[in-house]
Order: sequence, then structure tokens, then C-alpha cells
Amino acid sequence: MDAKELMKIARKARQNAYAPYSHFAVGAALLAESGRVYTGCNIENASYGLTCCAERNAIFAAVGAGERRFKMLAVAADSPEPVAPCGACRQVIAEFGIPIVVMGNLKEAIKTMSAEELLPYGFGQESMNNKGEK
Ligand code: THU
Repeated sequence: MDAKELMKIARKARQNAYAPYSHFAVGAALLAESGRVYTGCNIENASYGLTCCAERNAIFAAVGAGERRFKMLAVAADSPEPVAPCGACRQVIAEFGIPIVVMGNLKEAIKTMSAEELLPYGFGQESMNNKGEK
């Protein structure tokens, strides 16, 4: 599975977006080390702040299915430039150390970055003096 194939799956997942407020549909596809691919789309709410982005929905679906290790995440929207994950999603991407994030739109444009490039000097488990333990 290469970046282009994963992007195709993200574009398809975008078709399920529930975005009656922003009308901005986003799709994501996450390749786990197991070889399985998990998808997500943005799901909005009349209480706007409850909206969850495509990327987090894909990551949470995968983690909820028992996955912990990932190879690559693709995200797609109908944007002029490849769509960049929001700050909250970058934090979640960093939590699971997803090494490659492929951003795209509905055209051929594709941009690739690492989790570290997307969220430099981020907060993580190692930032806590108890390393996340009690
Ligand atoms: N959105 C995503 O799903 N992913 C992104 O990377 C950027 C933003 C969603 C949230 C909201 O439903 C809509 O796009 C507009 O912000």
C-alpha cells in the first residue's frame, strides 16, 4: 500500500462526511502495521464544538479495534492546497507516533510530512515527570 493508494481510500471515505454546517467534507485513511486500513470522515454537530475531524475518527476507530502501531495516515479534502490536519489532530497523531502523514486534495496535489514536522516541540508522555504513570 503506497501513499497514492491510501489517498484514494481517504478520498472515498470523505464521501461519508457529515458536514451540514461547514460544508467542508474531509476523509482520512490510516494504515496500521497489521496491514489493515481504517477510515474516518468529519462528523459535525449542531453544537459545533462537538465536531470530530476525519483524522481523529480514523485513529480512534483503529485504536478501538485494538491497533496501536501505524505506518501512514492520508487525509483528503476539496481544498486548493493539500489539507493540513488541525492542531488537535496533530496532538493525536503525535500520541500514536504516526510516522508519515500524507495530505491531499481531490486533484493530484500531495504533500508528505512526519508527525514531528507537523507538531514540533509537542507535549507527550515523556513531558510528564511521571512518564504517564501514577
Ligand atoms: N476538518 C477535518 O476533518 N480535518 C482537518 O484536517 C481540518 C478540518 C473538519 C472539521 C470541520 O468539520 C470542517 O473540517 C471545517 O473545519
